[in-house]
Amino acid sequence: MRQASLLAFIPGTDFRLEKFVDPLPIPPVAPRKGMRPRPDGAAGPVPFFECTMREFFQKVHRDLPPTRMWGYDGMSPGPTFEARSDEPLLIQWRNELPARHLFAIDHSLHGAEESKPDVRTVVHVHGAKTAPQFDGHPELWYPPGHSSVGFYPNGQEAAGLFYHDHAMGITRLNTMAGLMGMYLVRDAAEEALGLPRGRYEVPLVLCDRNILPDGQLSYPVSDDPAKPWVSEFIGSSILVNGKIAPFLNVEPRRYRFRILNASNAGFYFLTFNKERDAAKGEAFFQIGSDQGLLAAPVVLEKLFLAPGERADVVVDFAAYAGQNLILRAQAAVAMQFRVAADRVQDASQMPATLRKIERMKEETAVKTRDLFLADHQDRLGQSHRMMLNGAHWSMPVTEKPLLNSTEIWSFINLTDDTHPIHLHLVRFQVLDRRPFDMQVYLLTKKVVWTGPAMLPDTNEMGWKDTVRVMPTLVTRIIVKFEGFAGRYVWHCHVLEHEDNEMMRPYDVLEAL
Ligand code: C2O
Ligand code: CU
Repeated sequence: MRQASLLAFIPGTDFRLEKFVDPLPIPPVAPRKGMRPRPDGAAGPVPFFECTMREFFQKVHRDLPPTRMWGYDGMSPGPTFEARSDEPLLIQWRNELPARHLFAIDHSLHGAEESKPDVRTVVHVHGAKTAPQFDGHPELWYPPGHSSVGFYPNGQEAAGLFYHDHAMGITRLNTMAGLMGMYLVRDAAEEALGLPRGRYEVPLVLCDRNILPDGQLSYPVSDDPAKPWVSEFIGSSILVNGKIAPFLNVEPRRYRFRILNASNAGFYFLTFNKERDAAKGEAFFQIGSDQGLLAAPVVLEKLFLAPGERADVVVDFAAYAGQNLILRAQAAVAMQFRVAADRVQDASQMPATLRKIERMKEETAVKTRDLFLADHQDRLGQSHRMMLNGAHWSMPVTEKPLLNSTEIWSFINLTDDTHPIHLHLVRFQVLDRRPFDMQVYLLTKKVVWTGPAMLPDTNEMGWKDTVRVMPTLVTRIIVKFEGFAGRYVWHCHVLEHEDNEMMRPYDVLEAL
């Protein structure tokens, strides 16, 4: 498991690069291309958008040659979609990528067989409540020259969602190439709060990459040419909105940052530090998580974000006029904020409460599912699969919740790693995490607790769609399967794991 991170590290890539020489790019808002009829037969046309996946060259740093990438509308991250609660929209996603992939495909992985085209894409809007045919199911991919239309009803509360590629067996490679972007859902309740907006609200899409001195992306391969898959990728440079160590000029006032961890496997401990005091994390507010606002702002000095997770954060730069702050992920520098010296009026609000979130009651669950996470490796290292409940992707569906029913999913982690588990379609709450006896479980499949249950941190008490399932613990979530019936998926959001069987279909069944 750990070996892959060594493979992924290519020394001598960006250590010579000067920091904070490029301004932070802000992805443009996707432009509407007119109106179209709704595909679900309901009355009225809805706004229509077009988004094209293309190859392009993008400067990730002033002193590097442009990087060959794939992205939506010729940029990575792609344009930001702005949506409103209960106002549906249509997006036509066109695949105009070249026929050859940027990275080595592992044809031994399920769904990526030699018989399939190398380049295949399908877009998933992560966190969106959509009908199954528009959800970006991994097997609904299409090759270059084709397109699909997604219908997004946006029947959900304001939240920072994330669109990215989800093609079976090559999601890690397509995302690595740059196929990702943000999708913001807004609503009146959020707007009434008076949070920083307009140019004071900034998306920060973080990912780590290995950039070679010629500017090109490099993704590691195993030492078996027939099976190039590696078990995780951690890059040596952090990109923020597609730049290495950019800077942002800010006024000494509040800003709202919509932070997304879009990395393949990188977990980030984020801190804001004064340039001259890297040891101390400055305080900031987390106001939202994956599925929108928290009940109340949480003061943090450090924020932990797993792949696929989002955090909505407010930083008040008023106390730092004339200084610089650095955003770090662990020791690595992500970006710099240059705070102007001149005082400004700040009309934005930082309310003490944000929205009502009722804790879901365990008694409302009609079923509890024990689901274990395991690493299946033979002793010679000939085969290595990450699996959910010991099942391959292709095995019959085992998770079949009833529409509008509530269940508890209990994730039993038998591996040494944290796996961010994501369920499509739904939002959920984290109930608790509890230590258990792994040996007893391996022998008997019975969970024997070895300590008390721990409540999630305050900033994990809101609505989530991705949960960190940590080693040595059982992590429980409670979820109501609302919205649509049909076939969805649940999976680990470490993209290397997801591509190697750590993903399962699930069916929401129409109640009889
Ligand atoms: Cu963000 Cu199924 O993915
Ligand atoms: Cu995983």
